[in-house]
Amino acid sequence: MLSSTAAVLNAPPQLHAANFLNLLIIDDDRAVRDAASEVAHSLGFSVHAAESAERAIRALDNAEIDAVLLDLRFNGTGLDMLHAIKRQRPDALVIVVTNFGTVQSAVQAMKYGAYDYVTKPFSMEELRRLLERLSSDLRLKTQNRLRRETIKSQTGFGNIVGRSPEMERLYRIIAKAAQSTHPVLILGESGTGKEMFAKAIHVAGPLRDKPFIPVDCGSLVPTLIESELFGHVRGAFTGAAGAKDGLLSIAEGGTVFLDEIGELPIDLQAKLLRAIQEKEIRPVGSTKQIPINVRILGATNRDLEQAVSEGTFRRDLFFRLNVLTLRIPPLRERRQDIPLLVAHFLERIGRDREAEKTISQDALKMLLSYDWPGNVRELENALERACVVTSASELEIRDLPTHLTAAPQDPANGAHNNVIVPIAELEKQTILHALAHLNGDKMLAARLLGIGKTTLYRKLKEYQG
Ligand SMILES: Nc1ncnc2c1ncn2[C@@H]1O[C@H](COP(=O)(O)OP(=O)(O)OP(=O)(O)O)[C@@H](O)[C@H]1O
Ligand SMILES: [Mg+2]
Repeated sequence: MLSSTAAVLNAPPQLHAANFLNLLIIDDDRAVRDAASEVAHSLGFSVHAAESAERAIRALDNAEIDAVLLDLRFNGTGLDMLHAIKRQRPDALVIVVTNFGTVQSAVQAMKYGAYDYVTKPFSMEELRRLLERLSSDLRLKTQNRLRRETIKSQTGFGNIVGRSPEMERLYRIIAKAAQSTHPVLILGESGTGKEMFAKAIHVAGPLRDKPFIPVDCGSLVPTLIESELFGHVRGAFTGAAGAKDGLLSIAEGGTVFLDEIGELPIDLQAKLLRAIQEKEIRPVGSTKQIPINVRILGATNRDLEQAVSEGTFRRDLFFRLNVLTLRIPPLRERRQDIPLLVAHFLERIGRDREAEKTISQDALKMLLSYDWPGNVRELENALERACVVTSASELEIRDLPTHLTAAPQDPANGAHNNVIVPIAELEKQTILHALAHLNGDKMLAARLLGIGKTTLYRKLKEYQG
């Protein structure tokens, strides 16, 4: 498949100048190798040249080769080489080079799967045209592959997309977790899909017809979380005009998903532990215990083990929650899922906008080479943003957010020209840039920037004052 992480990672920093295709030139004639390299370079190919069979095999082993220019008279056994290439890189397009008068062997090579042939002596212009056609055919192959992968990407666990070994392992754990009622702790960086997995566990199990209630432990003040989770009696605190049931009892028979559980205040951790162990809760202000029947799923992007050793998270609660652990790897550790996710999101965005959306091979390779600190959410946002920026059906590198396409900075050099830019200033630029791009649509800008509408309004006011 196309997603050669290694090759992409090793790509030179001026990524945007290249076409991201790797061409291997196999010829024992140095003049031909040099001339062909020059033409291929000028078209943006990364070129590998091999003058011996050993070097050719090594290049096929180590680099993601998309296309090969192979002299059929190479070592006297060009056809054997063609077989070796096809075995090792079945998707690579091979142009064979033959001598005038031996076109017959080129035709035979085509039967064995060569893409096209060119006869020696050929002009630079001839080779240029051939390579241009090859590169556009490769792009087409990418589109078709993405289409096929959209179909392949359905996992049977809701909308979760991914076929990497890491994800396959998680699906097996979910399938098992769904059949039990033990707590599950879901760990992963922000945007890796923790909430999706929590829902999948709920939906794949026998509780699927019962409520699934997410509670964000990080966004509520402690007294509110307590009354949200455990409920309160009338007059329990100022403002508690009536009694209220806690989510742990409302979810009766279902699942409560405690998101950002690492943020839960320590005294509530004790109360939660008791609720899980004794299967009953005591509403705020009440003296009575109420039985509960609920499954607890928790998620956090914090290192809970460290929090335990620092004393900010209770060890006993950690053990209780940690019966089953789902560790979702960051996207950069399962890059082979990127094309699948791209296909999935483009399909969804295309459906929403009633317009087909595809991506160029270059842009896809750019997405493959980026590190995605914000994981799948960042990828999803980047694609949505790109589809807003251009009305063309095919996304190009220039449509992607600039921080993806900028050549990696040398950290030793610090920021541009050694000028340190305050984060607030960068934020201001980003917001104003987004608004300019979106013709002042504040709602959309807030959504794409991933901030609340009120936050956006407040910041704009600040910039004016
Ligand atoms: N494997 C995946 N397949 C499809 N979409 C995904 C996948 N993983 C994440 N997403 C999408 O990415 C976004 C973020 O996912 P989610 O909210 O589950 O992440 P999270 O780990 O809970 O993030 P946070 O820690 O920031 O709350 C959602 O829009 C979700 O639909
Ligand atoms: Mg979340």
